[in-house]
Amino acid sequence: MEAHLTEWLNLSVRWVHMITGIAWIGASFYFVWLENNLNRVNPKTGLAGDLWAIHGGGIYHLEKYKLAPPQMPENLHWFKWEAYATWLSGVALMLVVYYLNPSLYLVKPGVDLAPAMAIAIGFGSMLVGYGAYHLLCNSALGKRPALLGAVLFVLLIAAAYGFNLIFSGRAAYIHVGAIIGTIMVGNVFFTIMPAQRALVKAIENQTTPDPSLPARGLLRSRHNNYFTLPVLFIMISNHFPSTYGSQYNWLILAGIAMLAVLVRHYFNTRHDSSKFIWTLPAAALGMVCLAYVTGPSMKSVTPQTAVAVSPNAPLANPAATGAAPAQLPTAESASFAQVNSVIQQRCAVCHSATPSSPMFTAPPAGFMLDTPAQIKAQAAQIHAQSVASQVMPLGNITQMTEQERELIGAWIAHGAPLH
Ligand code: HEC
Repeated sequence: MEAHLTEWLNLSVRWVHMITGIAWIGASFYFVWLENNLNRVNPKTGLAGDLWAIHGGGIYHLEKYKLAPPQMPENLHWFKWEAYATWLSGVALMLVVYYLNPSLYLVKPGVDLAPAMAIAIGFGSMLVGYGAYHLLCNSALGKRPALLGAVLFVLLIAAAYGFNLIFSGRAAYIHVGAIIGTIMVGNVFFTIMPAQRALVKAIENQTTPDPSLPARGLLRSRHNNYFTLPVLFIMISNHFPSTYGSQYNWLILAGIAMLAVLVRHYFNTRHDSSKFIWTLPAAALGMVCLAYVTGPSMKSVTPQTAVAVSPNAPLANPAATGAAPAQLPTAESASFAQVNSVIQQRCAVCHSATPSSPMFTAPPAGFMLDTPAQIKAQAAQIHAQSVASQVMPLGNITQMTEQERELIGAWIAHGAPLH
């Protein structure tokens, strides 16, 4: 029952997070697009430019003021709740997925870290991350945007590396995303909104607004815009174990983030885009290269490197899983019976039509390993998650051993025979 409630809580919070995130990032894309496409030739007095657009069957005419209109309009629309709601629902989702279940999802298997400590580090890193970013922006570095960008990039990848030492791969990624998301919402809350409020107040008081205010807001909202694509990748990354599940996941993240920033840069320079058109094929090529370097190393599954089983190797934790398979063979003689026994013990407690684990009332991700036919048909997924990477079993809660992973790898390398 509890597992079922958690699932629906997860669903509801995740859905809200997605909706608010789309509203926020959509607005960010739209306003940067507006800035880039304003017609700035001979604007009317007081205007920076204007723009005509058609959408949903209507024609729109937008005008941007250089600084402010002569008097305040009656009805001014603000864009902030998208940001706040995205952050709040994101923190709630971290709580539901990672912080309610730290040993399963958060802490790296084999790392001795108290769950409360892991949660404190995870949540604290969001706040520390924003603080560090804010100080950097206000330092001398703030006047050199490209260098500032490079420093931020290195710091975020360093955070990914650090998280990777103590967190599971997917938690490491999501916490980098959470730091970036917190920086983005912090920009809205601490810089962009105060600047906008001061601007509006100056207009209402008929005083001349400080021109540095909108400029500062614009710089931070540009930062936010560059953060969007990497953060979107991180938000979907937990579907892709060849990224977060790799030992070098922080390097893969660096590669993908770099490509994302390149692509965003092209879209941000639309009026001058011919200069940056190369970024699109370069990013596509970069993705092909990343796919290649993250490919499963066939070394680990070829019969030549067959499992050398030490007779003393700890095979299983009987307390957690019941009896261990009596003896593991070398790869050449890996039989389906042995593979099946490993999978039933290590995987099917969760991945079954009727999971015996109290944490699940239905097979996670609908992935079931009850029958030989299911196991054979899904050998590639089994390989990706528990041999090529070690993201499964989650939190290695069923204490799968190295030898068992190699056994499964060898069986798959032999064509996954059912005998
Ligand atoms: C503690 C429960 C648990 C155990 C044990 C476990 N898994 Fe999983 N598995 C999950 C959960 C939960 C997910 C969904 C992950 C997510 O949230 O994206 C999952 C997802 C998967 C997926 C991805 C399915 C898809 O289509 O997205 C595969 C493949 C997988 N597990 C294979 C395995 C294998 C192989 C083992 C044994 C070596 C194993 N799992 C052991 C809980 C478990």
